[in-house]
Amino acid sequence: IKKVMPIPKAHYGGRHTVTMLPGAGIGPELMGYVKEIIFPISLFQVFKYAGVPVDFEDVEIDPNADDNVDLDYAITSIRRNGVALKGNIETRSTEAGVLSRNVALRNELDLYVNVLHCVSYPGVNSRQKNIDIVIVRQNTEGEYSMLEHESVYGVIESMKVITNFNSERVARYAFEYAKRNGRKKVTTVHKANIMKLSDGLFLEISRRVAKDYPDIIHNDMIIDNCCMQLVSNPHQFDVVLTTNLYGAIVSNVVCGLLGGAGLLAGKNYGDHYTIFEPGTRNTGTSIAGKNIANPIAMLNAAVDMLRHLGHKHHATVIQNAINKTINQGIHTRDLGGTATSRDVVDNILKHIKIATA
Ligand code: NAI
Repeated sequence: IKKVMPIPKAHYGGRHTVTMLPGAGIGPELMGYVKEIIFPISLFQVFKYAGVPVDFEDVEIDPNADDNVDLDYAITSIRRNGVALKGNIETRSTEAGVLSRNVALRNELDLYVNVLHCVSYPGVNSRQKNIDIVIVRQNTEGEYSMLEHESVYGVIESMKVITNFNSERVARYAFEYAKRNGRKKVTTVHKANIMKLSDGLFLEISRRVAKDYPDIIHNDMIIDNCCMQLVSNPHQFDVVLTTNLYGAIVSNVVCGLLGGAGLLAGKNYGDHYTIFEPGTRNTGTSIAGKNIANPIAMLNAAVDMLRHLGHKHHATVIQNAINKTINQGIHTRDLGGTATSRDVVDNILKHIKIATA
């Protein structure tokens, strides 16, 4: 695989600039919390460290716009800054011809891999305990190719595109990730028994790539069985390598086992750009503006972003404050608690203040 030089992250006067895409639903309020936590100095002058040297360039995308002006602006901004923090953008479900802005961003920026590290929080009362699974998902093709048409009246055809090139680079990413992080096993999840050509290619390439990593166990599993095994015996999984739609489903299954949509963050990588966002990519529209959304997934995405930019100290301070808050049982109602979003954020700020006093 050709090694591509990453484009440098925007870094002016010692500060990084990051594109912030608040998206819809709970996105804007969660971004407000991110800003409060990242720039504590502006709120409480008592903090010793002068906030994090990161500036946000806010970019709104109107999903109802008939043109792609907002989308093009967002893409230009991410190309300039290299890094983005993103809430989910609403997609009107049933109107043909309406482009999903989320998918378009990933495709245009060639963010070919999505990584979701699913680790249990001991302090969360979840359906399964001690889970540690990494889902590596192809992020730009497969069932998300958005190539659908009505060939004759009443007959819809939808193209699922699987390419040698993208299957190989996502497989290579999964095995390299496993090697770098001391993981023991990669499981390719597919439906090659039915989709023999498309999923067959994905599986065949993962088997070929696996040969270059003799120290890592490689097996495969059909998506149906995988969902059942994830619910009943998730501890058998280590790294899961899968196609785009199966990845979306499996990610949501594992998030559900761990405590729902409000906890985990996902990363979208390409050779040049990175987008950080909540792992399940929901908008949470029905709970927006009610002070009940769990802010943790978006805050974890912000922590991942800080690590990526090299602000390790700030990332660790915020991460520890998040973990302490969860372990103390300050939980929003999606986790069975009674705390508001504000209570959770205030408690995290309190721990940051103690850690940096
Ligand atoms: P949703 O936004 O209704 O969320 C699903 C459930 O999780 C709801 O019960 C919601 O209240 C809960 N939830 C989500 N975030 C939460 C948080 N932070 N704290 C507490 N509870 C939380 O999900 P739905 O209906 O699947 O998707 C809504 C929109 O998101 C649609 O427009 C859809 O197109 C878009 N979407 C896009 C995806 C993509 O990137 N391609 C993936 C998934 C959804």
